Amino acid sequence: MGNRQTQLDLAQKIKDAIGLKNLQQLNLILNSEKDSLLYTYAGVLLANESLNDEAVDCFKRAGNYGISKHLKEYLQKNGTLNSDFNVFNSSEPYDVWMLTNFLKTYRENTTKACGDYFSKNSILGKEISILDLGTGNGYLIADIINSINSQANYSKIDLVLVDKSEEMLLKAKSYCLNNIKCKNLSITTEQIELNLKTFGKLLEQYEKIPFDIVNCALSIHHLPHEVKLPLLKFLRPISENIVISECNWSHDIPETGSFELIKNVSENYGCIFDDLRKSCLSEKDIECFISGIGLPEALKILTKPRMERIDYHTTIEHWSELAEKADWHVSKVVPTVIYNEKTESFTMFLN
Ligand SMILES: C[S@@+](CC[C@H](N)C(=O)[O-])C[C@H]1O[C@@H](n2cnc3c(N)ncnc32)[C@H](O)[C@@H]1O
Repeated sequence: MGNRQTQLDLAQKIKDAIGLKNLQQLNLILNSEKDSLLYTYAGVLLANESLNDEAVDCFKRAGNYGISKHLKEYLQKNGTLNSDFNVFNSSEPYDVWMLTNFLKTYRENTTKACGDYFSKNSILGKEISILDLGTGNGYLIADIINSINSQANYSKIDLVLVDKSEEMLLKAKSYCLNNIKCKNLSITTEQIELNLKTFGKLLEQYEKIPFDIVNCALSIHHLPHEVKLPLLKFLRPISENIVISECNWSHDIPETGSFELIKNVSENYGCIFDDLRKSCLSEKDIECFISGIGLPEALKILTKPRMERIDYHTTIEHWSELAEKADWHVSKVVPTVIYNEKTESFTMFLN
């Protein structure tokens, strides 16, 4: 494929041809280029116009690129790329994802980054309070606390776990109680869906107890930047430190149906699906993750109006910009997963 500008020009021509339903013109462009990303782009736009046969044909021509094979199969089975599947109602697909090389590396390196950071930037005192936003199954926050505590040996740990999913919270509380090594551990759970209306409620309760650390791991990317920024501002007076561990992806700013968004989703979820296949999992587990998290997330980003996208991963640069606007100082950024020489995930420390 030629340079980025050529690709963008071709994408615009593809969009125009599909807008005019000029399939002959579309074929001329696609046949002359034979580019898997452009086939995928055309396939998504065609499916959004309910031109399903043509979309399936494009996904087929994209071969094994990105997630095209899965888009083709989903479209053939459901007659649409829309998905309203509720991710995180059950913890099983996330538990499967934690068995992959990607998530194992993410978990290990995030834990290490937190242990290293807080041993150098020690939080003084014999007690520590931690707020974990979007706890999930609790494995990561338990590892992080054990890593920090192995050096500090706190006499008391106050942990507040927040998640919108009741099942995740139940699992997380039990996991943390059984696995955090501290005799005086107090755990409170809050089933809250974080959004502009609920921050107030959360903070009303806790404003008198500033937290030593607020941990947000693979969780606040579920908020668009219009909500990320007020959340970071709300958190400023109640904590000395925020830790943000996220994927270095860009699914927040690009518009729905844009070439950039379709390219990003193809590459990022393509990387996750590729890693899944290399992680020695059973076919059943692979299917559990793909149908329970991977594909529904990708489909929503690809097809929903922006404010209903659910996933708004954003880049290190954009997180830094939002943090600084909210009066946080970016103290350190540590890459946690590097795949094909690209930083796929990172941990950012704000103070
Ligand atoms: C990918 S898991 C991350 C789990 C864990 N922090 C980790 O890094 O392993 C994301 C969690 O965030 C929760 N979540 C998603 N959107 C949320 C929201 N708006 N408010 C509260 N929790 C949310 C989900 O229920 C899920 O348990």
